[in-house]
Amino acid sequence: AKSKGINVKKIDNIFVVLIAIIVMISIRWIGILLINSLLILPAAASRNVANNMRKYHLFAVLFSLFSGLTGLIISYYFNVGAGPMIVIISGIIYFVTLLIKRKMEKKRVLTGDRPTGRLHIGHYFGSLKTRVEMQESGKYDPYILIADVQALTDNFNNPDKVRKNVREVMMDYLSVGLDPQKTTIYIQSMIPEVAELTVFYSNLVTISRLQRNPTVKTEIAQKKEIFGESVTYGFLGYPVSQAADITAFEGALVPVGEDQLPLIEQCKEIVRKFNSIYGETLIEPEAVLSNSKRIKGLDGNEKMGKSLGNAIYLSDSPEIITQKVMSAVTDPNRIRKDDKGNPDICMVAYYHNLFSTQEEYKTVCEECRAGERGCVACKKQLANNIIEFLKPIREKRKYYEERPELVDKLLMEGTEKARKTAAQTMKKIKKAMKLDYFE
Ligand code: TRP
Repeated sequence: AKSKGINVKKIDNIFVVLIAIIVMISIRWIGILLINSLLILPAAASRNVANNMRKYHLFAVLFSLFSGLTGLIISYYFNVGAGPMIVIISGIIYFVTLLIKRKMEKKRVLTGDRPTGRLHIGHYFGSLKTRVEMQESGKYDPYILIADVQALTDNFNNPDKVRKNVREVMMDYLSVGLDPQKTTIYIQSMIPEVAELTVFYSNLVTISRLQRNPTVKTEIAQKKEIFGESVTYGFLGYPVSQAADITAFEGALVPVGEDQLPLIEQCKEIVRKFNSIYGETLIEPEAVLSNSKRIKGLDGNEKMGKSLGNAIYLSDSPEIITQKVMSAVTDPNRIRKDDKGNPDICMVAYYHNLFSTQEEYKTVCEECRAGERGCVACKKQLANNIIEFLKPIREKRKYYEERPELVDKLLMEGTEKARKTAAQTMKKIKKAMKLDYFE
């Protein structure tokens, strides 16, 4: 299927060039600009550049003007025919634009979250910060899905929770600086192609392979109270649906936490199997482990999580933050203020390292070890720094909280854009699977 596609494209290009030469010879002058624009078009006619299409067309027009004029000038100077000269120059320009286009093709980055709760500072340092940096670098074409269908796999009996949190998560995204103009943010359930793909992929995965998936295995063990003795078909199969999430958008890079690696591996297996049966169609994604650290909970637990009740949310008010910090776990051997403390086992010191300046952190540790610092004062200082750190996020969030229609509008627009992308991929997939009946 792939080689066929390439041939058709090649024929298209040759066709355009032939017409160009004929027109050029017959109308010369006027034809030149027109022809050069035509020559550029096949180069521009590629997906992935959608974001930059306008910029690209501008380039194309400028280049065609440039090549036409250069061809003419050279032909007059050296007294050679304008026709062949323009063809040569146009050819060169054409390849230059191809090179530019390749540079402008940004790698598609795809990732997402289950909307089961508001996001906390663990999410911020673990993934949101990197996402904003990637977005701002301008080197990628980022997509972020709010995985409501996946959230339902273990919250099927709580649709209100999922629905509510779709908007909460969107507000968290917006408040940390994800910009819908640069990052396509969409709702998973509103992309029917993903559900369709999940069905197609389900033929390419065995039940025992899913049962062996380490992430799924751990989660099933943790969710006995939801699933009882036998896990649902939907939950066991969510890696298949996640493979559809990624491939429906031709996601090349997938930034995730370590716990998600088995899911990306499963996706790769599906892609390889698909390609070997139906022909090279899908792109194998690559997981990107963020180098940012996992944030420990206020209670000292290795993980900050909503279910663990040890998290500071991006949307927490200053009062709540202070209250939470006051309950953070400190060195248990430190009872009186002048006892010598060990900041290495104190969560307050740990957070000072994240939210306070390096000097402040050093002073905290030194004074703590010397028994010159009271825990209460130390916590108050930390709480203030966290409050200050989260201030711009909290203010931005408030802006969106007061404008629910705007949040909905942004979600709708992102979803609409995502649907177009998924529909394009789906077309290729259906063709490969010979399901393109009336095309
Ligand atoms: N499983 C991910 C999580 O729990 C969320 C998710 C759904 C996702 N679809 C995805 C992540 C596709 C990356 C790519 O966090």
